[in-house]
Formats: sequence, structure tokens, C-alpha cells
Amino acid sequence: MKFFVDTADVAEIADFAATGLLDGVTTNPSLIHKSGRKFLEVVKEICGLVDGPVSAEVVALDLDGMLREADVVRNLAPNVCVKLPLTFDGLKACKRLTSEGTQVNVTLCFSATQALLAAKAGATFISPFVGRHDDIGFDGMDLIEDIRLIYDNYEYQTEILVASVRHPVHILQAAKIGADVVTAPPAVLKALAKHPLTERGLEQFLADWAKTGETIA
Ligand code: E4P
Repeated sequence: MKFFVDTADVAEIADFAATGLLDGVTTNPSLIHKSGRKFLEVVKEICGLVDGPVSAEVVALDLDGMLREADVVRNLAPNVCVKLPLTFDGLKACKRLTSEGTQVNVTLCFSATQALLAAKAGATFISPFVGRHDDIGFDGMDLIEDIRLIYDNYEYQTEILVASVRHPVHILQAAKIGADVVTAPPAVLKALAKHPLTERGLEQFLADWAKTGETIA
């Protein structure tokens, strides 16, 4: 399973990249706003921090506008992945850009039929938003299961990128279903490594080790 971090905070991205566990980055206009940085400048910097895809979202709603913005964004770095909304114009732009070899992440997916369309349009990634689905009383993971089934039925190569992840259990469930990628805020990714018994065990081992009076050299 690939791990992407969902942030435009370069310090947090650099921190994660240093672990060697980071496969890519996703951003969106809200995260860019939160970073307080200029869009093109921050995306270019992020692209230099990771080898994997860095999703950068266009904001035009019409096909020509999307293609114009995508052209600017994809010229920033070879690992830019153009993020497009799941609309008909977004799907048309997806078809065009992927046929030219540009990576595309189709975002704001809330149904399996939307995901089917994105796969037919040749999307590199489809981003179903599980947390926002949970927020309105649906189980976001049902959507991931449906998309996995449909993509496997037809052997679509589009990768399922589980987005709007709110807690480690979302990642556990996504891994059990066989989603290809999760993108999560840094705090959620860090929480994956935490367990109270690990901490307690480590404390005990270190206390006993101190009693030996030894050092490892
Ligand atoms: C994914 O690409 C989105 O940036 C993100 O996961 C949205 O998450 P949110 O619902 O927590 O804003």
C-alpha cells in the first residue's frame, strides 16, 4: 500500500520524506490556503522533496480553463499529478491529459459510478473521500469496497486513493479492502506507529537495561 501525506506544509512533508515511507503528496486549495504560501511556488518546492506524485488541483470549472491551468501546473516538475474535480469537464480533461502522459488524480468522488467514469477516462488515481462520507451518515468504506470490486471486475488500472482520512482505523480498513493508496494528514500517519504497549514495553526494557550498567559500543 502506498502512503501519501495530505498537506501543503513543507516542513511536515520533509519530515515524512526522511522516513523513506512516503510515496507521494496530495494538496487541495484549502490546504494551500492553510499553508499561507503561493500555489505554484509551494507545489514546486514539494515536488523537490518527494520522488512520487504530488497532486496539485486546478480551479477552473470549464474544459479549456482546466487544460490551461493543467498546462501551467504540469510544467512545474515531472512528478506533478494534475488534480481534477469529478465533473464531466473534469473527466474530459482527464482523458486528454492522461493520453498525453500526464498523471491525473480525479478528486471529490462520492459514488462508485463516479469512480467507474474516472477509470474509463483513464485516471491515474481516483480519490473517494471517506471521512466526508462518514460525516453525513454513510460508511465511506462501503464505497471503497464497491470501487475495488468494480475495478477488479474490469481490470481497470486506476489506483484507488483513499482520501479524507480522519483516523488510523480508516487506513486499516482501506488496507484490508485492498485500496492502492491512502492519503492522510501527518498526525494520522504518525498515529499508525503508536501503541501504549510498545511504549510501556520500551520503558521497562530501558529501566532493566540501566540496571545492567552496560553500554553498547
Ligand atoms: C484529498 O486529496 C483531499 O485533499 C483530502 O483528503 C480532503 O480531506 P478532508 O475531507 O479532511 O478535507
